[in-house]
Amino acid sequence: MRKIIGLLICCITLTFTGYRAQAQEDLNWLKHAKKTAVHQLKKAAEVYHPGMNPRSINPDGTVRLAPQEDWTTGFFPGSLWFGYELSGDNQLGKDARKFTLALDSLKDYTHTHDLGFMIYCSFGNGYRLTKDKAYLPTLQLGAAHLYGRYNKTVGAIRSWDFGHWEFPVIIDNMMNLDFLFWAADHFKKPEYADAAVQHSMTTLKNHFRADNSSYHVISYDTLSGRAIQKETHQGLTHESAWARGQAWGLYGYTMAFKETGNKVFLNHAIAIAKFIMEHPNVDKDKIPYWDYDIHNGGERAPRDASAAAVIASALIDLAKFTDNPSYFSYAEDMLKSLSSPAYLAAEDDNAYFILKHSVGAFLYNSEIDTPLNYADYYYLEALLRYADAKNIDLKTLN
Ligand code: GLY
Repeated sequence: MRKIIGLLICCITLTFTGYRAQAQEDLNWLKHAKKTAVHQLKKAAEVYHPGMNPRSINPDGTVRLAPQEDWTTGFFPGSLWFGYELSGDNQLGKDARKFTLALDSLKDYTHTHDLGFMIYCSFGNGYRLTKDKAYLPTLQLGAAHLYGRYNKTVGAIRSWDFGHWEFPVIIDNMMNLDFLFWAADHFKKPEYADAAVQHSMTTLKNHFRADNSSYHVISYDTLSGRAIQKETHQGLTHESAWARGQAWGLYGYTMAFKETGNKVFLNHAIAIAKFIMEHPNVDKDKIPYWDYDIHNGGERAPRDASAAAVIASALIDLAKFTDNPSYFSYAEDMLKSLSSPAYLAAEDDNAYFILKHSVGAFLYNSEIDTPLNYADYYYLEALLRYADAKNIDLKTLN
């Protein structure tokens, strides 16, 4: 009898040790991702100068820097804030502050809808994490300028001030609404939230096709408010599904539901997720080509890690709002792919960017198969959301 009990205890101990080893093994990719990200961010903060943030790598190997008025300028300070949040490293916090405040002149900038990306990812994260009032004037003026681009007849915010369109609204614009929702609440400006809701409704009505993929650019007639052109700017064709555009849409409607509780937005996010997750042109690693209408791979068809990072981050939230674990496991697969050597940089490599293999604007021959600062930003956000959903304390995960 004693022998049987001994054997039983032995079996139970071995099983638990096995589970523990398994659990530890499962987190190795996340530990490695965190270590690499923190290393790259700290080095980047040493090498680059506030006000000229790293954006991508040029074909000749030099780094493309983003001046203050570049649409991507907020992502590097934002990544530093995420690095600080996931590690608790005070030096990263100081770097994040320095690179954020260097963008202060953005408070007078009015020429784009990208003020959300530029100001909310940098100053917004700074304020969220530190409650330092130094960030508020830029947030306050930036939100007012973004709201100033709203047209009541169209029911949307104007995206660009360039191009041949009368009133262009791009799917990417959904991403800038987060800033307006926050500012509506913080600065007591309910009209900002109303505009963000109406923008989401107008976009839902005009940007989406029957299969729930989206056009990139819709241009409106400002007299009647009618949609008069449906085009692409960065996709393969006007009728194709540009990968990052689908990612912006998924993230945008998931966030619009989070901010409003409106089920119309949630159902739309679910429909976009279905388009993405069931798409036949996505390979096993789940990282999309730069356009969903591409399926042949090879040199003409690099992957877009930036789209993948945005999708992963959005799906983790969508899983939470729907109680549907399939969104979470799809995001987990994507994050594991992005954290593998195929996409994650080796320390000190990749000009201190974290991820490799994104695409900016393929048909303009611009930023093809390169790191992009926004791929890094949404990858870090996704890692934070992943850890939060699994109750993992990233600060102590080493
Ligand atoms: N918002 C521009 C882009 O996604 O490339």
